[in-house]
Amino acid sequence: MCGIVGYVGKRRLVPVVLEGLKRLEYRGYDSAGIVYLQDGKLVKFRSEGKLQNLEHIMADAMGAPAHIGLGHTRWATHGAPTTANAHPHSDCTGDLVVVHNGIIENYHSLRKELIEKGHSFASETDTEVLAHLIEEYLDGDLRAAVTQALSRIEGSYAIGVLWTGMPDTLIAARNHSPLVIGVHEEDGGFLASDIPPLLPYTEQIVFLDDQELVVLQANNHTVYSLVTGEVVEKKIETISWNAGMAEKGGYKHFMLKEIYEQPQAIINTVSGRINPENGSVDLPEMNLSDADIAGIERIFLIACGTSWHAALVAKYWIERWAGIPVEVDIASEFRYRTLLIDERVLTVSISQSGETADTLAGIRLAKQLGSKIVTICNVVGSTMTREADGTIYTHAGPEIGVASTKAFTSQLAALFLFTLFLAEKRGSMEAAKRLEFGKELIRLAAVIEKILPALQDEIKELIESYYDSRDFLFVGRGLNFPIAMEGALKLKEISYIHAEGYASGELKHGPIALIDKDMPILALAPQDAVYQKSISNIEEIKARQGRLILIGTEGDQHLKSITDDIIYLPKVLEELNPILYTIPAQLLSYEIASRRGCDVDQPRNLAKSVTVE
Ligand code: G6P
Repeated sequence: MCGIVGYVGKRRLVPVVLEGLKRLEYRGYDSAGIVYLQDGKLVKFRSEGKLQNLEHIMADAMGAPAHIGLGHTRWATHGAPTTANAHPHSDCTGDLVVVHNGIIENYHSLRKELIEKGHSFASETDTEVLAHLIEEYLDGDLRAAVTQALSRIEGSYAIGVLWTGMPDTLIAARNHSPLVIGVHEEDGGFLASDIPPLLPYTEQIVFLDDQELVVLQANNHTVYSLVTGEVVEKKIETISWNAGMAEKGGYKHFMLKEIYEQPQAIINTVSGRINPENGSVDLPEMNLSDADIAGIERIFLIACGTSWHAALVAKYWIERWAGIPVEVDIASEFRYRTLLIDERVLTVSISQSGETADTLAGIRLAKQLGSKIVTICNVVGSTMTREADGTIYTHAGPEIGVASTKAFTSQLAALFLFTLFLAEKRGSMEAAKRLEFGKELIRLAAVIEKILPALQDEIKELIESYYDSRDFLFVGRGLNFPIAMEGALKLKEISYIHAEGYASGELKHGPIALIDKDMPILALAPQDAVYQKSISNIEEIKARQGRLILIGTEGDQHLKSITDDIIYLPKVLEELNPILYTIPAQLLSYEIASRRGCDVDQPRNLAKSVTVE
């Protein structure tokens, strides 16, 4: 999705904004632009494609003596990803510029109205409407004009505005699209769609809420409600992430770095949450009373993409150990079906970013129907965490690679804790077992840490015979069925190989028709409760000459009679296999994509944080 960076302060503007945009690259984009104010005039650069194109045309502007400006990476929605459609967009005078994330739904009628009033448009975007609308209302008071213009907008937005008439001020606002402010006494004021651009300069963050506008100057920020026009007192939050966390640290790609960060991310997520003496689980930010928990009759888990796969695993855990029926929904489906939800239902959203538009809309709907909302989220202060009744944070640190890895395994760790928490409160699991499960989760992190380097080498070699495949099937049973889906998603996202994940038992109902000697099938076959059943399905594949890669338990000799391509993993607590078996699936996708020369961290057409519906 689009990214905004803004700065006003002592530093030279171009490097700050350019570096900030690079730190938002993970969000996905197809054109970019920067504008700054120099000698009373706006200087604008825009280009198609990657930021290096913009950097190239700005080579002579790096040291420009400018100290206020805006930058934008655009993920095309209205209008092709051309230079003319890249932000910033200007009004007719060229003295006012706007950058915008989101979608202005009523832009057709506004555009028509503005053209009739004599405005001329230079792009096909919805955003440009806003520049002209502000121009239309501008009569010396920029805040008033922006407020008035936004009152005409239907849809979602995060915007940044710069006008030559107020050369020391940026105005920004948000509605259903993330925007954060960074403040630093010496360095000035920062504006961004996400936290990473701010990390090199400040840990002091102000999270704007929907329908809020900020007037940002080097040493001052004032937030106003767009509804009442009154000043809103905002808390400055201190975040614990640091700049290094959003850098590659010697790895070739963020995705690889993040795969290797998983043991630590799991430990950070679990740390301090299980009492080592009695196995009691402490989730203080969840904000649910014992009575709330006792009253839960059903749980809805809603999420998108990889986070949805985490929800699918959690269904097995919660139903088995806490005895509560669980429904799992893709958020974009949940929103548009008949929901039999009331106060006896607990709705849990799972989201790395806490900003995904469909998931956010889903929890709002569930809340209206009387459900309590808990969110499992990786970003402190994100919209979902602020709207939910309670949050279980995953402590994975910033995830930059578009393909989610450490956020996913941390979500699983958090959901496992959540299961133990529910089981404790509902009395459905003994303390000794909870303690054992907690310890096994910590041990799992150590196991992953130990096996990672050799596993990567092994997979790198293995994929030589598979990297140019056109299709791939991933199969698994029980707890590992969602992991088969996650493996397939990872592969298609970053290597563009068509891949599907199936429940092993479902193969014979269709996908088996695809199997021949050219079809690679990765089968997850740990020695678990459904092992024999999985083996039978694998034999069915072998009988049809499918090219099998098996991932199974160390020491399982039987697998050798089926195929030579086996990845052995240590035996861990069966319940935790989904976390462990995810690791080789991630590495396989990573190595294949890398071997095919794909842009692993920023795959085509994808965005990290999907803030439009
Ligand atoms: C995008 C990302 C996926 C992610 C999904 C949900 O599609 O590319 O990696 O799983 O959004 O994001 P969320 O932040 O809600 O977990």
